[in-house]
Amino acid sequence: MVKATVIGAAGGIGQPLSLLLKQSSLVTDLALYDVVNAPGVAADLSHINTPSIVTGYLPKDDGLAKALKNADIVVIPAGVPRKPGMTRDDLFNINAGIVKDIAVGIAEHSPKAFVLVISNPVNSTVPIVAEVLKKKGVYDPKKLFGVTTLDVVRASTFISEAAGKPTESLNYRIPVVGGHSGVTIVPLISQSQPPISVDQAKIEALTNRIQFGGDEVVKAKDGAGSATLSMAYAGARFAIAVLEAASGKPLAQPEMGYVDLTADAAGAKEVTKVIGDETPFFSVPLQLGPSGVEKILPLGKLNDYESELIKKAVADLNGNISKGVQFTANL
Ligand code: NAI
Repeated sequence: MVKATVIGAAGGIGQPLSLLLKQSSLVTDLALYDVVNAPGVAADLSHINTPSIVTGYLPKDDGLAKALKNADIVVIPAGVPRKPGMTRDDLFNINAGIVKDIAVGIAEHSPKAFVLVISNPVNSTVPIVAEVLKKKGVYDPKKLFGVTTLDVVRASTFISEAAGKPTESLNYRIPVVGGHSGVTIVPLISQSQPPISVDQAKIEALTNRIQFGGDEVVKAKDGAGSATLSMAYAGARFAIAVLEAASGKPLAQPEMGYVDLTADAAGAKEVTKVIGDETPFFSVPLQLGPSGVEKILPLGKLNDYESELIKKAVADLNGNISKGVQFTANL
């Protein structure tokens, strides 16, 4: 029996993400929560003839508590998305408070759940959840993830296109590390599998496209939001990987996730040799297992260009993380 809860389930990401989770045989109980329309989305999904039971909740009648009660995994795409001209950091003022309240609910009703944070700015919202869970005495860094899978998915697509094999993106695996915003997103293209051979100017253009790929969608949607469908795909992929690993199934490939480096002290030691010890959260390759982060895997060999990208990422990330931690200081 696996209960998955989606918070923000009626939104642009929440609806297709819930649909993808409804298709998974790993989920037996799918609870949807939103401040609007969650019962409607749940009624709609409940007509799909896959085995999971779908329920929908609004804030009234203790809806958040009921949705979270005994959840095994909580996925959070709640909050406002970007409009043209906005950075993810511009969302902080609204989304920090939303994520904080959800974290309080998790601490009280599903303290053992895997928590997957999609709400932006991920670089700051994940530290907010960590701080709330710490204050409530239920924090397990092995179970908290910022979802950065969309950056990995974009890297795979853009690089296979550049290699002239646009239909083979699934075969291209590129580690994308750091954070989930602008220059904090660091694709390690030199480690592409299979390798691609393009000149440095092309590598830099690809790096920039992966870092700012979200802006392409924000611009094209012209005020109607940011990536939702590709994010739902990426969020479901990561959630299902976490659930598969939790069920004891070894994963064929590591997944990237933005985690508290204390989740695996030994692994973190290798990572900090590369990134320094200034940043407590970083997106890293993860070996997932029954209790979440089993191992933080090494970043591998970086070239000089990638080492410079890491330096810029660390400088930005530290500000983002402190902002999240400070937000919770007065709770
Ligand atoms: P949306 O506005 O379409 O949906 C957000 C949903 O959250 C709405 O249904 C809204 O009613 C709900 N909501 C608001 N306050 C809530 C609360 N207190 N409790 C529960 N639900 C609440 O936005 P969209 O496009 O689905 O984006 C959601 C978030 O995901 C944004 O912060 C966006 O920046 C982020 N995002 C993250 C990505 C990533 O790679 N991690 C990629 C794309 C978007």
